[in-house]
Amino acid sequence: MSTALGANPSAAAKGSGEPAFARRSSVELLRFIDVSKIYGSGEAAVVALDHVNFAIRGGEFVAVLGPSGSGKSTAMNILGCLDTPTSGHYLFRGVDVGTLSRDARALIRRNNIGFVFQGFNLLKRTTALENLELPLIYRGIAKPQRHAAARRALALVGLSDRATHAASELSGGQQQRVAIARALVTAPSVIFADEPTGNLDSARGHEIMTLLRSLNAEHGITIVVVTHDEEIAAYAKRRIHFHDGRIASDEASTP
Ligand SMILES: Nc1ncnc2c1ncn2[C@@H]1O[C@H](COP(=O)(O)OP(=O)(O)OP(=O)(O)O)[C@@H](O)[C@H]1O
Ligand SMILES: [Mg+2]
Repeated sequence: MSTALGANPSAAAKGSGEPAFARRSSVELLRFIDVSKIYGSGEAAVVALDHVNFAIRGGEFVAVLGPSGSGKSTAMNILGCLDTPTSGHYLFRGVDVGTLSRDARALIRRNNIGFVFQGFNLLKRTTALENLELPLIYRGIAKPQRHAAARRALALVGLSDRATHAASELSGGQQQRVAIARALVTAPSVIFADEPTGNLDSARGHEIMTLLRSLNAEHGITIVVVTHDEEIAAYAKRRIHFHDGRIASDEASTP
């Protein structure tokens, strides 16, 4: 097992020979307890989340749906430990994230969480491979291991033949696959993707969702995808609908 993909101690302890990010267990990974988020104050206060409760277990593939302004990104920012609730509790692996310092939250992100954004957020003039090595440089992983881990992640998203292309030379769909590989390279237990298909045409969007579905099914990675598109959400096993900062429905997808 490589250093880079073995960075997560609980995964390394399994010693099964599977990739370190494999998570087939159904242990509870995260939980919102009465989470509210209020932006601003007084007259200008906006209630973005209003007493939200739900939990996600390891290995789930969840779509978060809802109209514009319903609180999806606000929920994702809290889930990703980028922000904290105004009231209520967000538990990540049983730890109340709201009680942690900024640095401690950054550590949770670094060790557990991969992000995928609508706009890909790659370094444009940097090669696909170097984009993947960057998060490993920040973790102090030595060059040979970094390189090997980046190559493996690129292979997982089917882009080995584009390793030395600059991100700007790749199509939108390919850039998003590189971004997914970048989220994978640190062996996270969960990937949060906010509108990952929003900048892609329908066919490319379906390719991205097919990739996420196979990463979930074959490697057991927990995936949470925000989308406003029911067709895109159909790839997930569970769908949570937000409306006006509340959960309107939470249901398993019909196969
Ligand atoms: N930084 C902020 N300051 C003030 N209000 C905010 C802020 N971020 C979000 N809001 C408000 O909180 C509510 C929820 O916003 P959020 O971004 O979570 O919606 P969303 O469901 O992701 O919408 P979209 O589909 O358009 O991305 C909205 O009314 C929004 O205007
Ligand atoms: Mg949003």
